[in-house]
Amino acid sequence: KIEARVDAILAMLSVEEKIGQLFQEKAECENLEELKSRIRAGRVGSLILASTAFAGNEKQIALSVADLNELQRIAVEESPQGIPMIYGRDIIHGCRTVMPVPLGQACAWDTELVKECSTAAAREASARGVHWTFSPMIDIARDPRWGRVVEGYGEDPYLTGQLGAAAVEGYQGSELQQMKQSKRVVACAKHFIGYGASEGGRDYETTEITEHSLRNVYMPPFREVLDRGCMTVMSSFNELNGETTSGSHRLLTELLKEELGFAGFVVSDWAAVEELISHGIAANHREAARISLSAGMDMEMVTRCFLDSLESLLESGAVSAERLDDAVRRVLRVKLMYGLFEDPYTPVEPEALEIHASDQALARRAVAESAVLLKNRAATLPLQRSSGKTLLTGPLLHAQAPLLGTWSMDGQPGDVTTYQAAFAAEWGSEAYVTHDPALMDQGLAMAHNHKSNQIDQIVVFIGEDSSRGGEHFSVSDLSLPPGQVEYVESLAAIGLPLTVVITAGRPLLIERVMRCADAVLYSFHGGVQAGPGVFDALTGAHDPRGHLPITFPRATGQIPIYYNRKTTGRPWSNGYIDQVDQPSLPFGYGLSYTSFEVAELSVNASSYPCDAETVELSLRVSNTGPRAGKALLQFYAHDHVASLARPTRFLCHHLWVPLAAAESQVVQVRIPTKRLGFYNRQGELTIEPGQFTFYAGLDSNADLNASLELVE
Ligand code: IFM
Repeated sequence: KIEARVDAILAMLSVEEKIGQLFQEKAECENLEELKSRIRAGRVGSLILASTAFAGNEKQIALSVADLNELQRIAVEESPQGIPMIYGRDIIHGCRTVMPVPLGQACAWDTELVKECSTAAAREASARGVHWTFSPMIDIARDPRWGRVVEGYGEDPYLTGQLGAAAVEGYQGSELQQMKQSKRVVACAKHFIGYGASEGGRDYETTEITEHSLRNVYMPPFREVLDRGCMTVMSSFNELNGETTSGSHRLLTELLKEELGFAGFVVSDWAAVEELISHGIAANHREAARISLSAGMDMEMVTRCFLDSLESLLESGAVSAERLDDAVRRVLRVKLMYGLFEDPYTPVEPEALEIHASDQALARRAVAESAVLLKNRAATLPLQRSSGKTLLTGPLLHAQAPLLGTWSMDGQPGDVTTYQAAFAAEWGSEAYVTHDPALMDQGLAMAHNHKSNQIDQIVVFIGEDSSRGGEHFSVSDLSLPPGQVEYVESLAAIGLPLTVVITAGRPLLIERVMRCADAVLYSFHGGVQAGPGVFDALTGAHDPRGHLPITFPRATGQIPIYYNRKTTGRPWSNGYIDQVDQPSLPFGYGLSYTSFEVAELSVNASSYPCDAETVELSLRVSNTGPRAGKALLQFYAHDHVASLARPTRFLCHHLWVPLAAAESQVVQVRIPTKRLGFYNRQGELTIEPGQFTFYAGLDSNADLNASLELVE
């Protein structure tokens, strides 16, 4: 039915109008009257709502829902064929209710949680007139210097695919038609492809990725989200192996559309079509338009190469009418499926813009569940409200905007409950002491005088500001900001129980802090409920059961560092002579207030046919600690001999098991056999016979193992 409607609309469009469908303009452009006249002429297919006015930037105007409806009215009632525009915006980790950054959400290893956060974000965004979010970002990142590492789900293809697919389900819902009425938004998987492999972690840099890694590391998350119905994809900025991704027929058409069967549309990243010129791939706008459209680009974001050149390119035969029609079809298909033709406007309902208590509760839980407990000596945590006072100190104690996380355009710093405010609300101000946040020396002096100040424990909040990460904010050094480590060491020297809360947008070098602190909790930027969520994790109101979705290096020079390395010919001697060949903290690592043990891993059969649906394992997991908790079981596989080199181990399954104190359970696990396969030189998924060893445990160093054979 949708295809017949697409055909009917396409047949009515002039070439000019078709090209208009492929152009995304900035909603907050300088000349609103000119924008209106272009919409009226059918020359704008989409608007990007790029204003950051909501984040307190008074220099920018944000269009209200009524303004957006008026622009849409012009498209629907005054343009020749009345095709509604689709409005896109970066709703990355929540809208007004800013949730933890994606790297933080990933720590919870919980698809349901990601889905809930995305559903809430979709509802808030759609009430503000947004139809389409540029999320999830499913770039694999193995270099934490890259500022955008915070926007993805970490280093692992399996975990990123699972969480990305959950985000898509949350944004789009499971009913892929008339999504608009159910307050969903169209999702956009980005960035296709390889953007996270930028050289040296510098943003927008060159990438070089072998065919093997492209298919086995960078493409799997895209397969997963497209299987889950993700309706749009954003091409990336980078040049990959000599081609620009936004101008590559092989990548956009052969891999994405033909091999992965993607039927939605590809939007360029901001100005990425025009940037073919700076890449030295196109000499001018006209060539950039020709190369990019012919490569398979369907919509150009903000620059006007398509708008200005496609008509004459078509007349001269330099681009084909079929390709143009294919691009327009794809855009129309998404607009129809979303329900824009039936329902092009957004109701103006002030109450729909209000903050919901249930979203705040979700945000709080998301912060608590994604906090990662890295150290807890002598049960320093959970924090008790003692008879004395807790010294609260550190540069992030009173922070608001720094905790929002990058890309929180609709978030307001004033909405953030600070760490200090959470203690005040929960324990009362008589339970703690603090000091002028600008004068850290005062904190140290108070700690030294702990007896007279009745201080019996210290909690220090350190880390990096949100603005130190995100797009074009890469760093060359992963050290904590100047003075912070020394401050923590000085506090530790006093000898009171010391808890360090590190807030960041990337893995930082924390070895010295880990050595001197009694307890360390890591929280990626948490958003509006950062304070209460971290409070819950610190005090045990919520078990902080996060696990790292990315490896923490000991030194910046170890980068790239990731757990699923391939073996070498000499695995015993391939490290550095000045550094142990181990990360600071392994992928998958995280503690809890209880403790777990795994044992008795066994395979249910010693061999399985390669085409079996699943292989089955069983494992005993026991809660050996004092309280109820949830164990995250991680399953890694190693393929001993294959026609292409395989990683030393790779994550193939994970599972949460709730256990009462002292409870022990045997769990049965079914792992889809296709997760053991890999993409061969022909680009086919191959599951080769041979020996596989499975490792099961609580992080990527798991050593409990069992083997089986896959047979023809
Ligand atoms: O969605 C983003 C993208 O991730 C980076 N460049 C700008 C786009 C639109 O804001």
